[in-house]
Amino acid sequence: MRAVVVTEPGPPEVLQVREVPDAVAGPGEVLIRVTATAVNRADLLQRQGNYPPPAGAPPYLGLECSGTVAGLGDGVDEFAVGEQVCALLAGGGYAQLVAVPVGQVVPAPRGLALVDAAAVPEAFCTVWSMAFGEQAGRLRRGERLLVHGGSSGIGTTAIQLAASLGATVLTTAGTRRKTEFCQRLGATVAINYREEEFADRVLEETLGDGVDVVLDNMGAPYLAPNMRCLAVGGRLIVLGLQGGRRGELDLGALLARRATVHAAGLRARPAAEKARIVAETRRNTWPLLESGAVRPVIDRVLRLEDAAEAHRLVDSSEHIGKVVLRVAQ
Ligand SMILES: NC(=O)c1ccc[n+]([C@@H]2O[C@H](COP(=O)([O-])OP(=O)(O)OC[C@H]3O[C@@H](n4cnc5c(N)ncnc54)[C@H](OP(=O)(O)O)[C@@H]3O)[C@@H](O)[C@H]2O)c1
Repeated sequence: MRAVVVTEPGPPEVLQVREVPDAVAGPGEVLIRVTATAVNRADLLQRQGNYPPPAGAPPYLGLECSGTVAGLGDGVDEFAVGEQVCALLAGGGYAQLVAVPVGQVVPAPRGLALVDAAAVPEAFCTVWSMAFGEQAGRLRRGERLLVHGGSSGIGTTAIQLAASLGATVLTTAGTRRKTEFCQRLGATVAINYREEEFADRVLEETLGDGVDVVLDNMGAPYLAPNMRCLAVGGRLIVLGLQGGRRGELDLGALLARRATVHAAGLRARPAAEKARIVAETRRNTWPLLESGAVRPVIDRVLRLEDAAEAHRLVDSSEHIGKVVLRVAQ
């Protein structure tokens, strides 16, 4: 099969399409002939050598894909060869074939183009489990969500899911083009963080109450302002560390608010936990995708051979939503 390999840790140019041994479905796995994969910020870190794949994962980049079932490992009878699916991967999406534990594979949402379905698993599973999941954000109808980086893959998903489930959404983004896009998508308030202190504006918009859940991609520099605009009983959910990992937390503020700080990643979790997240995400969000109430926001679709260009684009943050790579067979 052909796959994108990282020839050495470095800039986007190190991504090269090469002939590599075919992926093979082991026991409990599904072999997928990949139609498309999508770029995640984590792929940029892996390319630079800063985010190695967990033990047992394919060595290639790619945390999600869509495609057709090409084979079934021992003990798998949930899918049929030829069925259209999408999957949450621990790696290996930038390739013609990938083998995935069956619990991470789901039928592609009906009514969505199979190429577009590649942009669903990582963002929808992350947002569902982190913003709404019982063990993290527990966001409910009538509550307020602040999601940073509203134009990102994660942000565009969170805005739509939260708004369609009856929460009020506030968000941040770095340009007017992006804040306007976020408002069209369902955010009630979109703050240009380059022009305003987001915490001041959030407190102003919520009449001093703050928000119930924050989905944070920045880490250290946003810890204090996130705490400042968190409501009593609030949940600060850290899912990215783009601004740094070490910050100072005012435990007094946490105590006064009876608040929670929760940080977690999806990729390194055991297969059984990922299977639970994938099943919950499917149950709760596939009906919204299939009715057209929410959709993956796709900036553009490039060819797998253009992976370097896709990484440059995501690195520049000029994109809105996801950048998809179509895989020729
Ligand atoms: N924990 C997990 O399992 C998990 C899973 C998936 C993703 N993530 C994390 O979620 C985040 C988004 O991922 P993605 O793949 O959707 O990335 P992405 O599309 O590349 O988005 C990154 C976003 O960060 C925004 N940003 C940069 N500086 C900012 C600032 N100071 N304040 C607010 N926003 C800022 C950029 O927007 P502007 O251009 O507006 O600055 C951009 O939209 C990343 O941190 C990623 O690592 C975590």
